[in-house]
Amino acid sequence: MFQSLPVQPADPILALMAAYRDDPRPGKIDLGIGVYKNAAGVTPVMRAVKVAEERLWRDQETKSYIGFLGDPGFNDAMIRLVLGDALPRQNVAAAAAPGGTGAVRQAFEAIREANPDARVFISDPSWVNHASMLDHVGLARKSYRYFDAESRGIDFDGMMEDLSDLGAGDVLLLHGCCHNPTGADLNSVEWQAVRALLARTGALPMIDLAYMGFGDGLEADAGPVRDLVAELPEALIAVSCSKNFGLYRDRAGVLIATAQDGTLAPRLGDTLAHLNRQNFSFPPDHATRVVSTILDDVDLSADWLDELNGMRGRIQSVRQALANELQRITGSDRFHFLSRHRGMFSRLGASREQVEMLRDRHGVYMVGDSRMNVAGLTESSVPVLAAAIAEVGL
Ligand code: LMR
Repeated sequence: MFQSLPVQPADPILALMAAYRDDPRPGKIDLGIGVYKNAAGVTPVMRAVKVAEERLWRDQETKSYIGFLGDPGFNDAMIRLVLGDALPRQNVAAAAAPGGTGAVRQAFEAIREANPDARVFISDPSWVNHASMLDHVGLARKSYRYFDAESRGIDFDGMMEDLSDLGAGDVLLLHGCCHNPTGADLNSVEWQAVRALLARTGALPMIDLAYMGFGDGLEADAGPVRDLVAELPEALIAVSCSKNFGLYRDRAGVLIATAQDGTLAPRLGDTLAHLNRQNFSFPPDHATRVVSTILDDVDLSADWLDELNGMRGRIQSVRQALANELQRITGSDRFHFLSRHRGMFSRLGASREQVEMLRDRHGVYMVGDSRMNVAGLTESSVPVLAAAIAEVGL
C-alpha cells in the first residue's frame, strides 16, 4: 500500500529552514520562516506568557475535555480582541483551532460544507500554504493580481479588474494586515472599495489574520476586519496567536464566523464544532488558556501589549535601517518600499538567481520568491545584507 504513496513536494519554507540549519558558515543570516527574533537573534517566550504558564501550572486542577469548540473563555477573549464591539456577540460563532493554519484549514472546510462549488480567490502571491491547502481540500481557486513588481506596492487596478469576476457563492481571501509574502497592505480607501465590491457581488470575505499587532498596532490592524464584519452580511476570520503571543509551536488559533442574521449563529457554531470533531475532536487547550489568562488580566495584557509594541517597533526600525543603508551604498532611493511595507515580510523583488546568489555567496537565506523575514535582521546583519543585495546587482 505505502508504495503507491505519491512523492510529496517539499514545503519551500521548511526546506529553507533545514538548509539554513545545515549551513556551517558562522555569518549566515536567516530571513526564512516567519518568526520574530529580538536584537540578539533569539525568538523569546514573551514575559506575560511565562507568568500565565506559571499560573496555569499552579492553579489548573484538571486537563479533562472541554468541548469541540475549545475553551469558551478563549473564544470570547479572542472575539473581543479581534472584533471589539463591531458586532453583537450573538452574531458570532468561534472555534479554537491548532494555530492559524488550523483555523485556515477549518475555514476552507466550512466553505466546502456550505458550497462545494465555491471558488476561492487568493492574491498573487499569497502564503504558499493557501493554494496547497485549497487543492488538498478540493476547493477551486483563482488568483487575483496583487503585487506590483515595479513599485513593490499593490496593483490595485489589476486586483479590482481580476475581482470583477467574483460572484455570490465565491470567497475572497484577504490578508487582514502584514501581507504574507509581500509586506504590501491595502490602504483604507482600497479596503473601502473592496468592501463595496463584496457588498455588490455577495461574495463571502475570508480574512487570514496571522500578524495582528505587527502592522500599525493591535487596534489599527483590527480595523479593516471590524469594518468588514460590521458592513457585510457574513465573514470568516482565521486568527493566529503564533506570532503576537509568540506561541508558535504550541498552536493556538481561532476561527471566527460572523452573520448579520443572528439566527444563523447557532448553525455556524454547530458546523464549526462538527468540523473540529471530524478533524481532531478537541482543539489543543494549553496555549489557548495561556492567551485567555493574559487577555483576562489587566496587568498581564498591558505587559503583553507593551512587549508586542516593542517587537513591532524593532521590526520597523530594522526596516528603516536597511532602507537607509541601501540608499547610502547604492545612492538610490529605490529601496524605500522596505520602510513602507508592514509586518515581518518584504518581497525584495530579486530574481530566483539573485536569491540563490545571496544564499551561496553570502549565506543569506530568504524564500525563493525573495520574501525576506525582516524580523530576522539585527543591527549587525543589516549592513551585511545591504552589501550582499548590492553585490548581486539588485
Ligand atoms: C511563514 O509564512 O513563514 C509562517 O506563516 C510559518 C508557516 O507556517 O509557513
